[in-house]
Amino acid sequence: MRQHAPQIEIVGNATAVAERAAAHIVARLRNEHAVTLGFATGATMRPVYARLVAATRAGDVSFRAVSSFNLDEFVGVAPQSPGSFHGYMQEHLFGHVDMEAGRARIPDGMAGDIAAEAARYEALIAAAGGIDLLLLGIGANGHIGFNEPGSDFASRTREIKLDEATRIANAGNFPHLASVPERAITMGIATILEARSILLIATGSEKAAALAAAIEGPIGPACPASALRLHDNVHVLCDEAAAAALANRPHNNNRRTA
Ligand code: GLP
Repeated sequence: MRQHAPQIEIVGNATAVAERAAAHIVARLRNEHAVTLGFATGATMRPVYARLVAATRAGDVSFRAVSSFNLDEFVGVAPQSPGSFHGYMQEHLFGHVDMEAGRARIPDGMAGDIAAEAARYEALIAAAGGIDLLLLGIGANGHIGFNEPGSDFASRTREIKLDEATRIANAGNFPHLASVPERAITMGIATILEARSILLIATGSEKAAALAAAIEGPIGPACPASALRLHDNVHVLCDEAAAAALANRPHNNNRRTA
């Protein structure tokens, strides 16, 4: 596959990143009638979703014609339980915007047969005509979705064992570390690369090494996010802290300050 250079935009801080990301999504929703979005969870996305909720409440944007597919979910965590990504999406976005019920999809981590659920999820994405714009965060270990280091670039939606570092990073949403699930269901790297456009968001110094590895390191499964350089329409939006380890800064006309 051919390599591509992602478009990199560095802004001052996490607030500015959230504003730019939300503005990007709002512009897309206003310009196109029906859009299929891919949603990520995690702390980075919270202020982005807060701005999308505010824009919806202000009447600046509508999610009526939006369909969506979330990247991942824990296995064995009920949708109503606080640590689930179902719960996260309800709390931070779906509960507050005018999206049609049934159009917001998240993998079912409670499915008895996760392999069958993964195949069903892939079929749903295909039936929707694919994902137009996929939002991605990045793990401190370079994961995208829950594709941990070592994930095959040809991987599709599947069950995966979570790295200990990922379980620790997610422990805040569970009563204690021991209750963080060991396994998750995630879109695969190949599934992610089929999205027509990708917006990767990274904030904070704890993401600096992973972001530099993704953009400037070797392309390969040791850094799952490096697979994004095989995609020709990736926009990376990060703050100064997350950009700190990049050797090659984007040119000034690509750079904005808060
Ligand atoms: C999580 C999620 C990803 C998310 C990433 C970063 O575990 N599976 O979808 O993008 O790790 O999360 P955060 O924004 O909390 O750092």
